[in-house]
Amino acid sequence: MSNKPNINVKVQQPQKQQIKLGFSAGNVKLKIAVMSGKGGVGKSLITAALAVGFALRGLKVGVLDADIYGPTIPKLLGLAGSSLYYDDKRDVIIPATGPLNIKVVSIDFLLPSEDSAVVWRGVLVSKAIEDFLSKTDWGDLDVMMIDLPPGTGDAPLTIAQALSGQLTGSIIVSAPGDVSGRIVKKAIDFSRKVKVPVIGVIENMCCFTCPDTGKTYYVFGEPEGKRMAEEANVSFLGEIPLDPRISEANNAGVPFLLKYPDIEASRKLMTVIDSLMGRFKDELSGQTKREIRLMKLPGEEESSGNEEDK
Ligand SMILES: Nc1ncnc2c1ncn2[C@@H]1O[C@H](COP(=O)(O)OP(=O)(O)OP(=O)(O)O)[C@@H](O)[C@H]1O
Ligand SMILES: [Mg+2]
Repeated sequence: MSNKPNINVKVQQPQKQQIKLGFSAGNVKLKIAVMSGKGGVGKSLITAALAVGFALRGLKVGVLDADIYGPTIPKLLGLAGSSLYYDDKRDVIIPATGPLNIKVVSIDFLLPSEDSAVVWRGVLVSKAIEDFLSKTDWGDLDVMMIDLPPGTGDAPLTIAQALSGQLTGSIIVSAPGDVSGRIVKKAIDFSRKVKVPVIGVIENMCCFTCPDTGKTYYVFGEPEGKRMAEEANVSFLGEIPLDPRISEANNAGVPFLLKYPDIEASRKLMTVIDSLMGRFKDELSGQTKREIRLMKLPGEEESSGNEEDK
């Protein structure tokens, strides 16, 4: 008997209907879906933070909150209570606009109250996502971040299959814990099976550094994301520490990168952004050079930028 772990995500065949990404009004250079093998690992927080990070580097960013059953992107970007507008003359949805001009579309904007639950079946979810993608006037975007529903079950499957073949790739968010290794592998397997190339793994809540002593604690056990990423032959993009200021900023609806730009989590997140911008520089080319690195975090060295940008 093989001693290979039994990690195998079954994907129904044939594939469900493909959704045409109707970026008719413009052009989106990178489309990155954020996934996780299980819920609560900080997937939405990382999606929002990556969006803010790209925008801080001068890119034009949109976020599609495709987590229909648990939409939290509007709250994370301080847009709770905002609305989407429908331009009936052009038959297009106008996204809400968040900090740094980030365009956001979420089912949350259509719910009557914060406590309302979405109780739709898969077919309706697909239709909503189709409308969000094909009827939204996103304009020209450098990056679109897509927050998928958590896990590897029916909800992420419905959306990931529909988008299959049209995404630049996926970023998998993991968090340390008992079975985190298996869960990271499961998410990588899921992404590959729905034909979304894995860009890499980010380990969130890796550890906590005590501000009084400077000592780092691995509160949930040793992070396994890096090892699992290496074993699965995908990039490890970095780890983000646990920091109460992150949840405090979240609760206030202010992106932590903007509220606490000089904390370790912000620096690490921007390192991930810079490595992604380097990796996708060909796709992002054509972007106005002057705009790159318009804003810097306190303490970031002027010389750390691309020489061409100056
Ligand atoms: N590095 C961190 N430090 C402190 N708090 C964090 C960190 N990452 C996430 N959190 C908090 O953990 C909670 C869960 O995060 P988030 O909602 O992003 O997870 P999720 O994976 O999207 O969850 P779901 O599966 O429900 O969609 C939030 O309250 C968030 O503020
Ligand atoms: Mg979420």
